Amino acid sequence: MPEQLAESIVQLALRRGFFNPTAEIYRGPAGFYDLGPLGTLMKLNLINYWLDTFVKRETSFEVYLIDGSLILPYEALKASGHVDKFTDPKAECVKCGRIHRLDQLIEETLGLKVEGKGIEDLQEIVKVQGVRCPNCGGELTGFKEHHLMFKLSIGGGGEAAFLRPETAQNIFLNFKRIAYAMRAKLPFAVAQVGKSFRNEISPRQSIIRLREFSQMEIEVFFSPIRGDGPSKFEDVGDTVIRVLTREEQKRGDGGEAIELRARDAVEEGIVPNKFLAYYLAKEVRFFQSLGIPPENMRFRHLLPEETPHYSGGNFDLEVKFSFGWKEVVGNAYRRDYDLTVHSKHSGEDLSIDDNGVKIVPHVVEPSFGVERILYAILEHSYREGVREWPILMLPRIISPIKAAILPLLDRTALVAKAWEIYTWLRASRLPIYTVYDDRGSIGRRYARADEAGVNLCVTIDHQTLQDNTVTVRDRDTTSQIRVKIDELEELIFNDTYRGLEQ
Ligand code: GAP
Repeated sequence: MPEQLAESIVQLALRRGFFNPTAEIYRGPAGFYDLGPLGTLMKLNLINYWLDTFVKRETSFEVYLIDGSLILPYEALKASGHVDKFTDPKAECVKCGRIHRLDQLIEETLGLKVEGKGIEDLQEIVKVQGVRCPNCGGELTGFKEHHLMFKLSIGGGGEAAFLRPETAQNIFLNFKRIAYAMRAKLPFAVAQVGKSFRNEISPRQSIIRLREFSQMEIEVFFSPIRGDGPSKFEDVGDTVIRVLTREEQKRGDGGEAIELRARDAVEEGIVPNKFLAYYLAKEVRFFQSLGIPPENMRFRHLLPEETPHYSGGNFDLEVKFSFGWKEVVGNAYRRDYDLTVHSKHSGEDLSIDDNGVKIVPHVVEPSFGVERILYAILEHSYREGVREWPILMLPRIISPIKAAILPLLDRTALVAKAWEIYTWLRASRLPIYTVYDDRGSIGRRYARADEAGVNLCVTIDHQTLQDNTVTVRDRDTTSQIRVKIDELEELIFNDTYRGLEQ
């Protein structure tokens, strides 16, 4: 059943133009996907909604946006620790030659959590437990760490560089420039949306684990001395968050998340500071508005062996998918690690004056994966069995198409009027992307629209020619109302924001 849902999503994505493998006609390499016409609009809507929520409407502190280079020099990623430590363990099958990501293979075959364990420990587990290739049963060999960055050489001289493995590093590298140019005072944040690249050993589950993907990241810089939090913390302090604690994870069955208010999570010392708790609460609200119910979200407190040595705590926001829980947002308290190492390696002073005190700020980082969120939305909005065709009950703000304009019948006068309304709506300055469709019966056109997640269907009939009114059909309820053409633009626009917080 779960595999069926994932398969239905992939089939719908291919059929309706949400996503497809890159260079499909050449059977291109695994781990690369292109977004089609609907997927691209959906991604833009998601990014815009995220920017609106986490950047423009943030008034607790200033959030500056940047757009950094995808290629970063060797020295910068050596300093950040990526050159030496950004690896996954792998092993090869002697029989079929398949390469496996070792920690995943052990987790899947033995049900053991081994993330963070060294290659020798993993090799020992394979030996003792007799883990073999799941593809052909062959023996495993060639145990080694696999480097996750794509290496490049720049220009004629071949200067070493990498495609960035996270967008965060641009932010740290620009910290001094931004602080100076914007006359920034702590706390402040810098956000970035863009591509990241990781040479994953085994990309899988369509757009869930990719080698090229998009992130929406924020680095919040704050004083570790003052011990304060975001000025608007009270607005979200009562939000209930579900935390899978370290203690719970040690239970044989994987444990149950505990529910508590964001403010209590800080007071009880479960979450290390208010900046981090603020984002956990905001993420719950954001994902709920995207159609993910609270019980399908949890913050997993990473175990000590999975947590980087410099981190003051990592809380992955995991969403329940048809194939299990999966991280969609990484939340980390990175302390002053990045600014300190870049300061040391570059020789630049990356401290800042905070009311007369010179400090290296601490950092809280929420890091959202775009494709995983798109997939989570698709899975949670997919409905079968309600009508004779599948429906995508997408969050209205994210739907690629806000309205479809449909002449009821293939009659010249109706087609002309529908086309006139469509061209008028397409000229609108409001973000209401509309399409025109006159192919097939009205029932088939409703079905096509439902499957593409179109919020509203606007039908032009004989009455339209007499009184300039149209029917507007709601995707989720199929209820229809009759409205004046003049009111359409505003109606479609307002409908986009239905159910969202003001
Ligand atoms: N700067 C911190 C950072 O990059 P991460 O947990 O490695 O943290 C953050 O990544 C998010 O990026 C993840 O929660 C996930 O949504 C997304 N992500 C990471 N690796 C990915 C991959 N190979 N394919 C698709 N999305 C990925």
